[in-house]
Amino acid sequence: MSTLTKLALGVMGQLRPRPARGEGRPAIKLPAPDRRGGMPLMQALAKRRSAREFLRKPLPLPVLSSLLWAAFGVNRRGGGRTAPSALDAQEIDVYVALPDGAYLYDARAHMLRRVAASDLRSITGYQDFVDDAPLDLVYVADHARLRMVPAAQRESYASAAAGAIAQNVYLYAASAGLATVIRAWIDRTAIADALGLSHDQQVLLSQTVGYPKA
Ligand SMILES: Cc1cc2nc3c(=O)[nH]c(=O)nc-3n(C[C@H](O)[C@H](O)[C@H](O)COP(=O)(O)O)c2cc1C
Repeated sequence: MSTLTKLALGVMGQLRPRPARGEGRPAIKLPAPDRRGGMPLMQALAKRRSAREFLRKPLPLPVLSSLLWAAFGVNRRGGGRTAPSALDAQEIDVYVALPDGAYLYDARAHMLRRVAASDLRSITGYQDFVDDAPLDLVYVADHARLRMVPAAQRESYASAAAGAIAQNVYLYAASAGLATVIRAWIDRTAIADALGLSHDQQVLLSQTVGYPKA
């Protein structure tokens, strides 16, 4: 769908998901992430960049597993995560839009739990490439987990936490030869409706990941 069509549909509140492609499952157990190897950090930083052209080629499950672990997985005893959060509130949820459905990443169980049995990728942003790239992530803040932070600071703390997760994805992508771009040009209401979010939950950013076209 073109950006113009999406903008028009968005204004009318008519941006709707597409039917799921392929058999989704209510829960997907991810294989263990590959915690070794990868590119040396300074080389990954040298390669980090945004890209907006993606192949339709799906991401294999082991790649999705390592990507999500790098993004915001549990990396130590006690439940600590790969990205920081104020007072360790861990208020960001990572939603995963795939062709066969939309899922919540359950980091403790390292599983995907389905929240919608339709293809929400096209809902995750106004830019046309989001429709067909194999993966769109959505970062959602749960303000209920930030009650100990003054209300005026909750959004900026959550945005900083989401930014750290996004950079983890950028670095994993650079290391694994994937392309990615973080995106704020999104219809937050359409995404919240499609994901069935509560009033405490706020859509912050989306991020597309896939194999580079060139
Ligand atoms: C908060 C934020 C929001 C962004 N939103 C978008 C977006 O909606 N669409 C897009 O194509 N790029 C978006 N970007 C990516 C920037 O355009 C990109 O990082 C910038 O052009 C620098 O390019 P680089 O990432 O390759 O260094 C966003 C970046 C940030 C940090």
